[in-house]
Amino acid sequence: MHKPLIAGNWKMHTTIQEGVELVIKLRELLRGMDAVEVVIAPPFTSIYHLHFLVADSPIELAAQDVFWEESGAYTGEISAKMLRDVGCEYVIVGHSERRRYFAETDEDVNRKVMALLKVGLKPIVCVGETLEERERGRTIRIVTGQLKGALRGLGPGGIKDVVVAYEPVWAIGTGRNATPEQAEEVHNTMRELLYEEFGMDAAQDVRIIYGGSVKPDNIDSLMAQPNIDGTLVGGASLKAEDFARIVQFRHV
Ligand code: PGA
Repeated sequence: MHKPLIAGNWKMHTTIQEGVELVIKLRELLRGMDAVEVVIAPPFTSIYHLHFLVADSPIELAAQDVFWEESGAYTGEISAKMLRDVGCEYVIVGHSERRRYFAETDEDVNRKVMALLKVGLKPIVCVGETLEERERGRTIRIVTGQLKGALRGLGPGGIKDVVVAYEPVWAIGTGRNATPEQAEEVHNTMRELLYEEFGMDAAQDVRIIYGGSVKPDNIDSLMAQPNIDGTLVGGASLKAEDFARIVQFRHV
């Protein structure tokens, strides 16, 4: 069994000072925690500073995006190597907000995944359907299409460092989470797809986490599902007590 992964996506929130205060509280609340892998994804501007604060704590750092080129004339962009340099272990790619506001495609996500693996960073690949797609019965087709696109060309060696995040778009920031059964159905299908494409080890090793309005009051029932290996938390990751409670989910 792999360690559950709970990741906090801070999105475009927090100055350095606010990030420091949040991490100091989290360090205190999560002291000695080793049953769960805990990751936070602050904005780019805070990562380097926070990496000193999370040393000797169970907290690891992620970035919220990356550009796939190694270096060059790409004004405004940040490479995988730069993210490793500031202390990241993970990088979120293909978040629905990036797909929606910055027109990211599955092909872009695939390039980012490859660039991260090349420098030893672990991608958290987000997939998820819109409400309209769910209502039309297209959830599985959309989600498996996004996943296949994101992982195209990956060998069995690379897949073990990938984390897959199922984030139904209609559940993000809306307070309306997928039911544990709805999430489990999609996770189970993605696990089967990993088995078909990459074999048994990948299907067992790759963590499939759920995101979308995860809160202290729904975490326990989500984590009770056999194929939910963790969560990606937005809003609730900005409150130290809520995030710590989510990390310390209870087995129901
Ligand atoms: P939310 O965001 O927890 O605020 O719904 C989740 C995410 O976008 O990763």
